[in-house]
Amino acid sequence: MVGNLRSSRFPLGARVRLADQAVDPYPTFAELRAAEPVTWVPEIECWFLTRRDDMLAVLRDPDLFTTDAPSTIRDMFGVHMMTTEGPTQIRYKRKCLPPFHVSRLESASLPRLKAEVERLVRALGWGGRHAGEVRTEVARPVALHSVLSVLGIPLSETERVNEWYEHFARALANFAGDPDLRAAGKGAADAFGRALEPILEQLARKPNETLLSDLVCDHVDPLTAEEIRSNALIILFGGIETTESMIANAVWALLSHPEQIETARSRADALDLAIEETLRWEPAVQSAARHATRDTEIRGVRIAEGEVVHCMLGAANRDPAYFQDPDRFDVTRRNAGDHLSFAVGRHFCLGAPLARLETRVVLETLWSRCPGLRLDPHRPGAPYGYEFRKPKTLCSGTPDAGGRQQSVPQWAATRRVRIPM
Ligand code: HEM
Repeated sequence: MVGNLRSSRFPLGARVRLADQAVDPYPTFAELRAAEPVTWVPEIECWFLTRRDDMLAVLRDPDLFTTDAPSTIRDMFGVHMMTTEGPTQIRYKRKCLPPFHVSRLESASLPRLKAEVERLVRALGWGGRHAGEVRTEVARPVALHSVLSVLGIPLSETERVNEWYEHFARALANFAGDPDLRAAGKGAADAFGRALEPILEQLARKPNETLLSDLVCDHVDPLTAEEIRSNALIILFGGIETTESMIANAVWALLSHPEQIETARSRADALDLAIEETLRWEPAVQSAARHATRDTEIRGVRIAEGEVVHCMLGAANRDPAYFQDPDRFDVTRRNAGDHLSFAVGRHFCLGAPLARLETRVVLETLWSRCPGLRLDPHRPGAPYGYEFRKPKTLCSGTPDAGGRQQSVPQWAATRRVRIPM
């Protein structure tokens, strides 16, 4: 009954279908933003917000809109920074933050990252006929190895981590509540915990410059083994598909607008701005969910205690009240960096500096080593997906015959971004 009443009050929300959103969410976002900015979506029984201002208010008010509630991600990984609020969340995040500072990333991660990207891009082939697949052959391994390295998990674990990741991803997308998928996800999280034990023992004896080493050697109010496991799990899960998608979406966005690539390459800050525009225009993560802690209202719409509000980040990024001509991809857009693709507030993405660094190194290397790189017109790769969006395949076309090798330019330091606490 309540459902029927809501459907008649929110007719556009009632028509939202996740399958359509996965193909192209932006026309629906535009309609909702204009006519039903706070709407009820019966298909997933949640509220959708599509105006940037409303999302800023929700994401900045953890007392009223919390992540501290039962959820699949907490069920699977335990209590971690993304499913707590207040002092516990701040403690977890503070402990995990140092390895993600730009200066430490540049000293501890950049040389390995550059060497790996160089090797993977060479393997794609350039100046010849080979057409590589950029998402799975470059973006995925870069994302996976980078987050493993920052955590301090040996790269020899890559294959097992990949398998666990597939179980996590299926369990988290298990909207129908299939018990087998849930059990497989929890089994993978337990297997990760068991694999972590000897790694932590080793790091306690021989510390190094990694996150797990920092945590295991911390003697001031240290995290318990369980707290290390659950926070490591969310960092690992948060760092793989998201960054793979961010890199692939950035390559796709620029290759779909080849006239803008030269502008993006012209200076270090131009490339940084172009990366922000790719984040704004096609964000890898499309929503951030919050639970109402009490009955409240947004724009006069009553939200009941316990109901889930989805902040549709891709809609915020194309809100014409903030971004002029928002559907246009423009690498010179001055306020591109005000996108919400890493959310805002206490849960602002921990890995944003690493993801930006990875994307920049991939773009620099691709433009330098594959000057003729272009999208393969026979295998179009527009991003797809409701919650995580990425190209299914991102095939490069035949590079220019005799494509030249150029030295990789030395861009200035990555944009320094403060992570809100
Ligand atoms: C190295 C890569 C990454 C790592 C390690 C990582 C890790 C994390 C972690 C641990 C959180 C929870 C922070 C907290 O609750 O305080 C988080 C939040 C978030 N991340 Fe990332 N992330 C990465 C890349 C990305 C990328 C590429 C995107 C999208 C473009 C993204 C989007 C988000 C969003 C939207 C949130 C906030 C979710 C919410 O508020 O509900 N992340 N990330």
